[in-house]
Amino acid sequence: MKKISKPLIIANWKTFPATIKEATSFIKALEKKYTAIKHLPPYLIAVPEAFIGTLSTITNQGVIGAQNISGTILGASTGETTATQLRSAGASFAIVGHSEVRARGETQDLLIQKIELSLLAGLLTVVCCGEHDRDEKGAYLKELEYELSTLLSHLDSKLYHNLVIAYEPLWAIGKDVSATSKECFEVIIALRRALANMVGIDVAKKVRIVYGGAVTPDNAEEFLTEGGVDGLLLGRSSQDVASYLSILSSQAQ
Ligand code: PGA
Repeated sequence: MKKISKPLIIANWKTFPATIKEATSFIKALEKKYTAIKHLPPYLIAVPEAFIGTLSTITNQGVIGAQNISGTILGASTGETTATQLRSAGASFAIVGHSEVRARGETQDLLIQKIELSLLAGLLTVVCCGEHDRDEKGAYLKELEYELSTLLSHLDSKLYHNLVIAYEPLWAIGKDVSATSKECFEVIIALRRALANMVGIDVAKKVRIVYGGAVTPDNAEEFLTEGGVDGLLLGRSSQDVASYLSILSSQAQ
């Protein structure tokens, strides 16, 4: 498996693109240009599940991931795909707890199971969290810290090396306005502190925390330099070769 190093620029393709043919052309067009930029780590793309097998065999410089996993193991669960199956199909990572999945009824208990199953399957596991709204007194920071501890506190700290936290404020996902790098920085500090309270500073320091929500080629670099993050999670900006490449290139500077 390719070494996944920082910064992590993770694409979340959602249901894009419509066909495997289009997905293959996208990867080929991206890689042609990606090779020309020196010193870039593998890019990460969470693709529609049906494309994982094919795309993982054609990427040379990228790492393919899943956008969700099942909270079950082998058994009578029609239509579900387990973390181990996704890994054996070619996924190296998985996003779990994305707000769009939670909005379709994913409960916190189910998400807790998914996080553990994903980590046990050896997938780099990107756990999404973020506030719905902000209040002036900063109660959302406490809520986020509490949410993180609820999701992770039962986990064996040995699994933390494969854990990534994606801070995604819900008010920015799919919208025109992102958090500012300062707002992001403040949350990253709070999340890091919550992690340190759970597993100690040494383990907490190694957990990668990324930002997602309306990241564009215009604001990506500022998040990386001033937002205190170890990477980015991209939705719309990753669905176009030029904008995705432009954000991937900000790592090289
Ligand atoms: P966006 O989506 O970049 O289009 O806001 C982010 C996400 O859904 O993870």
